[in-house]
Amino acid sequence: QSQELLLSIESTCDETAAAVIERSGRVLGQCIATQETLHEQFNGVVPEIAARAHLERILPVIDTAMKQAGVMGRDLTAVAVADRPGLAGSLLVGVVAAKTLALAWNRPLISLNHLHAHLYACQLIDGAPEDIYPSVGLIVSGGHTSLYLCHTAIELEYLGGTIDDAAGEAFDKVAAMLSLPFPGGVEVAKLAAEGNEKAYSFPRSMIHDEADDFSFSGLKTAVRYAIAGPGRQDFSSLQIPEQVKRDVCASFEAAVVDVLVSKSRRAIKRHRDRSGAGRLIVGGGVAANQRLRRDLQAAADEDGFELLIAPPHLCTDNAVMGAIAWKKLEAGLFANLDLDITPGLQR
Ligand code: KG4
Ligand code: ZN
Repeated sequence: QSQELLLSIESTCDETAAAVIERSGRVLGQCIATQETLHEQFNGVVPEIAARAHLERILPVIDTAMKQAGVMGRDLTAVAVADRPGLAGSLLVGVVAAKTLALAWNRPLISLNHLHAHLYACQLIDGAPEDIYPSVGLIVSGGHTSLYLCHTAIELEYLGGTIDDAAGEAFDKVAAMLSLPFPGGVEVAKLAAEGNEKAYSFPRSMIHDEADDFSFSGLKTAVRYAIAGPGRQDFSSLQIPEQVKRDVCASFEAAVVDVLVSKSRRAIKRHRDRSGAGRLIVGGGVAANQRLRRDLQAAADEDGFELLIAPPHLCTDNAVMGAIAWKKLEAGLFANLDLDITPGLQR
């Protein structure tokens, strides 16, 4: 008897993705179509372009994942889709596709919170413990920087988050100031590895604040001043020496990582006693950052908490983290065919 399977669909931002996943978590087929080249010239994701690109790609992407897995609709137990949060037009394409297939194949529909899925990616590490809850969750992505108390995979309590820019957004904006390709996180990290992190002393906003909130816009402004001085808006004509770029990236990355590490550390100290959450789980695109991974591990070793970071290839948006749908299925949490999108910021 073969394993039960589900189809997971992801289209919240600018990646169109689908995966066929066994109940055991094993992935039989998957496909991701990235839109990076479409948004590059705008230094950010353009919602209308993203929605149109999803529309063109969604069926071929699903088809590819299903063919790779060698399955048909009738072989599936359920169809799952991320319905929140994200760009409205992007979400709509995935949700309409999922509803249509669920109806056509007569299979139950499961709606997923994209942020919960990012953290669930921690459970998809080889050898991860069966039960990783309760734990403190850190989500660091292009749109979010938040701390949660995770009671279970699908019951998360918001502790705090950014009051302005997300960490990934700050990486992308700094990359744009330095004329690096979009999305900038990876490019900034590459240059940072060759730079001097002490060259600039950038602010670590709210690092001593007791609240679990973050702020990265002051850091972004400090980088802007360091590169061009106050007042300058147009960076395109600016000639920045390569060593300056490397040093700015290293100093910027160190500032972001310092804040993320020390706030997570404080949150876990507090909740280890209060809620029995002795483990930190980390997901989202910025969790692929090597410096962040290294410094978090050092903090975990020093303070004696357990650390699980999503594997690098499951940090940025993908449909495999939609394996969380099995948890919703087991809890009997199904969506109806009148499922609508919920674009807004989710706590
Ligand atoms: O999770 P994700 O793919 O999309 C959202 O749900 O937002 O995160 C994308 C973000 C981008 O801002 C990207 O620049 C950042 O993650 N990112 C990184 C790295 N890889 C991706 N930031 C820093 N270092 C990296 N290695
Ligand atoms: Zn994401």
